[in-house]
Amino acid sequence: MCGIFGYINYLVERDRQFIIDTLLNGLSRLEYRGYDSAGMAVDGDKKNEVQAFKEVGKVAKLRELIAESKPDMTKSFESHAGISHTRWATHGTPTRQNCHPHRSDATWEFAVVHNGIITNYKELKALLESKGFRFETETDTECIAKLAKYLYDQHPDIEFTVLAKAVIKELEGAFGLLLKLSLPARVPPLVIGVRTSKKMKVDFVDVEFSEEGALPAEQASQNAAIKKSSASLLAPPDKSLLHRSQSRAFLSDDGIPQPAEFFLSSDPSAIVEHTKKVLYLEDDDIAHIHEGQLNIHRLTKNDGTSNVRTIQTIELELQEIMKGKFDHFMQKEIFEQPESIVNTMRGRLDTVNKKVTLGGLRQYISTIRRCRRLIFIACGTSYHSCMAVRGVFEELTEIPIAVELASDFLDRQAPVFRDDTCVFVSQSGETADSLMALRYCLERGALTVGVVNVVGSSISLLTHCGVHINAGPEIGVASTKAYTSQFVAMVMFALSLSEDRASKHQRREEIMEGLGKISEQFREILKLNDSIKDMCAKFFKDQKSLLLLGRGAQFPTALEGALKIKEISYLHCEAVMSGELKHGVLALVDENLPIIMILTRDNLFTKSLNAYQQVIARGGRPIVICNPDDPEFSAAQTEKIAVPKTVDCLQGLLNVIPLQLVSYWLAVGEGLNVDFPRNLAKSVTVE
Ligand code: UD1
Ligand code: BG6
Repeated sequence: MCGIFGYINYLVERDRQFIIDTLLNGLSRLEYRGYDSAGMAVDGDKKNEVQAFKEVGKVAKLRELIAESKPDMTKSFESHAGISHTRWATHGTPTRQNCHPHRSDATWEFAVVHNGIITNYKELKALLESKGFRFETETDTECIAKLAKYLYDQHPDIEFTVLAKAVIKELEGAFGLLLKLSLPARVPPLVIGVRTSKKMKVDFVDVEFSEEGALPAEQASQNAAIKKSSASLLAPPDKSLLHRSQSRAFLSDDGIPQPAEFFLSSDPSAIVEHTKKVLYLEDDDIAHIHEGQLNIHRLTKNDGTSNVRTIQTIELELQEIMKGKFDHFMQKEIFEQPESIVNTMRGRLDTVNKKVTLGGLRQYISTIRRCRRLIFIACGTSYHSCMAVRGVFEELTEIPIAVELASDFLDRQAPVFRDDTCVFVSQSGETADSLMALRYCLERGALTVGVVNVVGSSISLLTHCGVHINAGPEIGVASTKAYTSQFVAMVMFALSLSEDRASKHQRREEIMEGLGKISEQFREILKLNDSIKDMCAKFFKDQKSLLLLGRGAQFPTALEGALKIKEISYLHCEAVMSGELKHGVLALVDENLPIIMILTRDNLFTKSLNAYQQVIARGGRPIVICNPDDPEFSAAQTEKIAVPKTVDCLQGLLNVIPLQLVSYWLAVGEGLNVDFPRNLAKSVTVE
């Protein structure tokens, strides 16, 4: 998905080489989000001149293009603003032309990079074309730059922030963008990193709200002039002029701006190498950086929300997002799972006193207990983790449970009521479909709960309460450790909800005991790595298709395994509920079709064995995922992946790991780009 990175230096002299390298490195850190082209705009050699570089393909190709263009890398700038972007095509194919930044005109008076979608771009484009603008690209983004230019030409004395607000007011959709020296945000979020040589005076920035009737006289008259001269649809807002309060953080004792550098990105992982001091923008914030000053404005009057944005210290260490000894992020993340699930449970599960405490739900838990339905809403892997815990929620809470794909839920405009609790599960916290479903449920008055990995993400901020799964950054596009951590976080959620049920006491203790052992069992399973690698080469190489069979709680495991295999190895893989085999899919089975069957022991084991027998009877030779030394599969010729036994409702946590490894080794065997599969993005911020 698109990524944004901007770098601004003020009274800190930097040469063009440094500026371009900083932008390119920032883009490299965003590569994991998935993209198809990249570009940047920096200042040119002459005053008010802009140099733009755009290239289809990887950031490395953009670097080559810049080297070939031979700009004067020694030219130095005391103050400078550079913006850059990785694009994931939505409106228009991946071409140099469609690459960001986009411009207002041939002189690049306004340059813009943008993440998200402008839903009313066609209307804006038609209007601007009628005003004489010629569009150069197929993107929705271009209309932003042209709109800024149009409004600016009409009101050349307009304040930059007033202009930015006027532009944003006309845009519909979900977007974060950098417009020359300003960056407004309306999901996905933007993060601003700040580096100063001296300690900042305060660790927050004041928010300046628009205030009707309280405008300084000079601005009020300017405002009136704007209103008068622009009766068009695109009139700038009439009540959004800013107050000139200074952001105290960046001033010296005598009130003079200090040298400062600003790093602007859609993602903190592109910022941590420069500074740990960051500030997250909230929905509809507009940050304006000018002459070393960072000011935050809002389009609205003070609506009771916080009037400061805190400058936080992020703890995300760079090495945490590096691959370390592993070949791929996905491999690293698979092998991190013994630690990541411990992090999910840390401070929350007390295995000695058999108690679960989820701080983020504490105040809401009794309300949730009384709800009439629990609706889980998610996409992709996160949807599978919801499916995987449905049974344990039903069993422990006895509340009716629904599990929904966010897009389908919205397509149906499914009924939601005030006494429903809607749980949004998302690794990134930014998935557009899930976010839209969240807004839909909020509008209908339901209680909303987030189960999210990324702190500060939109879903985490917009839900009433929730649980951060604390799995650490996940970079591989194929989600692995987030799945197991979501699973564990949700089991703890079900345990919290059922705390007051005496009849569930023993079962709850059994599950908590099981959770306490999971990490060690993960380590056991990961020892199978080499044998799974060999198995992939022996049985699945050059196959066209693969079936994955599971039943009950293991059907979601099969779904998740099949998704992993499809997304990174491009091998068609279908998950089938074992009980449904005889109703159609059995026709596919013969001695050639590769099949993996999940046959760990639970209360459905006898039924699952039926499916196994049906496959064997058709000459099938399935590989079975089973518990160690299961006499049913003792025959020497049976191919087995033996996983330790745990409580039935946790068994899926263990069973999914061999399937993650199968998908990984299949993709590596094909020489594919494991971390960045074709056509897919880590964070899908469009519908
Ligand atoms: C919190 C702190 C953690 C600290 C612990 C000590 C954060 C992010 N977490 O963890 O660093 O060690 O207290 O007691 O500061 N929330 C949502 N929606 C979501 C996810 C979370 O609204 O999707 C809310 C929660 O309701 C809560 C807050 O965010 O108010 C933090 O949630 P979480 O990190 O899960 O809380 P703790 O585990 O208590
Ligand atoms: C994308 C990813 O499609 O979004 C998947 O490629 C992921 O891996 C899905 O499961 C949902 O993402 P999230 O962040 O909402 O869990």
